[in-house]
Amino acid sequence: MIGKLNHVAIVVPDLEAGTAVYRDTLGAKVSEPVELPEHGVTTVFVELPNTKIELLHPLGEGSPIAKFLEKNASGGIHHVCYEVEDIEAAAAKMKEEGARALGDIKIGAHNKPVLFLHPKDFCGTLVELEQA
Ligand code: CO
Repeated sequence: MIGKLNHVAIVVPDLEAGTAVYRDTLGAKVSEPVELPEHGVTTVFVELPNTKIELLHPLGEGSPIAKFLEKNASGGIHHVCYEVEDIEAAAAKMKEEGARALGDIKIGAHNKPVLFLHPKDFCGTLVELEQA
C-alpha cells in the first residue's frame, strides 16, 4: 500500500545550526525557514534527489514537538512519511489491521491530507501517511 518515502522529519534544538549541518557539512540544498503556525513548527526543507528531510523546530506555545525536544535535547528523528494514493482507503485499512491512528485525517504541512499512526504499532516509529 505505501509508496515513496516522502520525507524524514528531524527535530532540531537550533534550526540555524541544523540547517548549516545539512547545507554546509553534508552539501544539500536547503530552503529558507518556513513558519507553519497551524502546525506549531518552523520547517527547513532539505531537498535530496530521492526524498526530503524536514528539519522541525517548535513555533509558539504548545508546539506538538516541544515535548520531544524536552526528552531529546540534541534533537532526533521524529517521524517518517510514506505516500499513499488514497488516504481514506489507507485509514480504513489501518483500522481493519488494528493499527491505531493518532487523531483523524488532517491537512498536513504540504497542504495534502495526512494521517499519523501510533509508534507502538509501527516498530517504535511515528509514521505519517500522506496522500500523494
Ligand atoms: Co511530516
